[in-house]
Amino acid sequence: MTATAEDIERAVAVLRAGGLVGLPTETVYGLGANAEDTAAVMRIFEMKGRPPSHPLIVHIAASDELDDWVEEVPRAARVLADRFWPGPLTLVLRRGRRVPLAATGGLETVAVRVPDHPVALALLSAFGGGITAPSANRFGSVSPTTANDVRVELGDGVGLVLDGGPCEVGVESTIVDVTGEVPAILRPGGVTREDLEAVLGYSVAVPSTSDVRVPGQHPSHYAPRARVVLVEPEKVVAEAEIARKEGYQVGVLLPPPLAGATVEAHAVVTLPDSPAAYAQGLYGFLRELDQQGCDLIVASLPAEEGLGLAIANRLLRAAGPRPPA
Ligand code: TXA
Ligand code: MG
Repeated sequence: MTATAEDIERAVAVLRAGGLVGLPTETVYGLGANAEDTAAVMRIFEMKGRPPSHPLIVHIAASDELDDWVEEVPRAARVLADRFWPGPLTLVLRRGRRVPLAATGGLETVAVRVPDHPVALALLSAFGGGITAPSANRFGSVSPTTANDVRVELGDGVGLVLDGGPCEVGVESTIVDVTGEVPAILRPGGVTREDLEAVLGYSVAVPSTSDVRVPGQHPSHYAPRARVVLVEPEKVVAEAEIARKEGYQVGVLLPPPLAGATVEAHAVVTLPDSPAAYAQGLYGFLRELDQQGCDLIVASLPAEEGLGLAIANRLLRAAGPRPPA
């Protein structure tokens, strides 16, 4: 059930008291704290099991509050904020004094965004300050896209989770660094590279650290419990069969062109045709295959255009090497 005005009031009280609140955004659910309360911010890292050197995103209610949180707003940042906020775009700017170093992992820059979700916006307006919130999952695992996912991820640790229904975008915001000469994408997400370039009028770099083209080079993140194996789309069915014979409980993310193909596997999700629906469903599909007891998931990468860039980035990270158990 969607959060009521009373739920919002309770959440504001929790934030003012230094507590944590699970909140919906259009991308994924966040685990929020008063951005200006260092002790509360530290609690986020504890609850997620996340190293405190990993910076968080400060969520604000409207573009016109941006100046309160950053040292300066370069022209490109203003253009992007005007066009894409509220929305799945995060801007990295020089840190304003209001932002504690705890929220930025010690960096002199800060990530800021205005989320496009009525519950998040109502909470931000009622609270009247910034809410720093990472995705509300345990560090490294799949981001939550429903209120129930948050409860499953974090258990009773988080006293209050505002329910805003399933997230519409389904993958995290696009992070753009606007502190340099030209904007650069640090993480592909809900706003596409093509949309950014259309507004800016020039091409935007996707640095190799985010553009993980070779699986296995980056430690896993956004990862289900099951191991993720990526193959060419036409090899998905054969790979699933091999893994099954090796004794795995195989889950398959079946590319749309193969819909209806016979697959010998423990569980099969036929992916939606539209990239938007794929992005929206991605984390839910991975959770679902985990829940069905799969220990290996066979998938392939979509074309890296539009939302496909963000989906491919998350799949590549999910397939990255796991820390030793
Ligand atoms: O859609 C989203 O962005 C969601 C919702 C809840 O807003 N939040 C989210 O937060 O994905 P999190 O903490 O899971 O990811 C934040 C990312 C991290 O990869 C972090 O490294 C990057 O933002 N980040 C934050 N501050 C940064 C900074 N100052 N410089 C570079 N990267 C930064
Ligand atoms: Mg995250």
